[in-house]
Amino acid sequence: MAQNPMRDDPTPPPALARTSAARIAVNVDGVAHLDEVEPRLLLVHYLRDRLGRTGTPIGCDTGNCGACTVDLDGMSVKSCQVLAVQADGRRVTTIQGLAGPDGAWHPLQRAFHEQHALQCGYCTPGMIMAARDLLKDNPDPTPEEVRDALEGNLCRCTGYQNIVRAVLAAAAELRREGAPEPRGKAAGAPRASGQEAPA
Ligand code: FES
Ligand code: FES
Repeated sequence: MAQNPMRDDPTPPPALARTSAARIAVNVDGVAHLDEVEPRLLLVHYLRDRLGRTGTPIGCDTGNCGACTVDLDGMSVKSCQVLAVQADGRRVTTIQGLAGPDGAWHPLQRAFHEQHALQCGYCTPGMIMAARDLLKDNPDPTPEEVRDALEGNLCRCTGYQNIVRAVLAAAAELRREGAPEPRGKAAGAPRASGQEAPA
């Protein structure tokens, strides 16, 4: 009887073979992480499921709602449209990294609270991260410019009026403070092996 050479071969066929893990070093909210991830893992899933940064929600997983927006090396990105491996060697800031070292809210966080710019709050982290990106380039935007900048972020609750008002209020506060956040690349190299290390 003819032998089937495939039968005793323990190597799984290519389609069933496990994808090999990739090693990444990423700084998230000031903390350095070294991890192994599947190459197909989305950044938003890495942040939420591996690092527990659940302040970044998933609204659609298709790049439409903006809820998952984070800052990647100074640019806002929808983290459901970025692979975790693409964050290798880079700095990610989420909504949970915006407060000051003393826990004081970022002016945008304060303004959203004070201007009643949220109801369910699901869109709020993404709105704030996208608005922060706008204010780096344009510290004194018009209402139309705010609306343009936030067009990729959907809110099902507020009607957007108070969101625009909040961004304008935060912009004014940042101008008064004289401390517009510069756009820049400041990725600190993770400096320890293991799950995480202080940045
Ligand atoms: S969850 Fe990423 S854009 Fe909606
Ligand atoms: S506050 Fe509910 S989706 Fe914006």
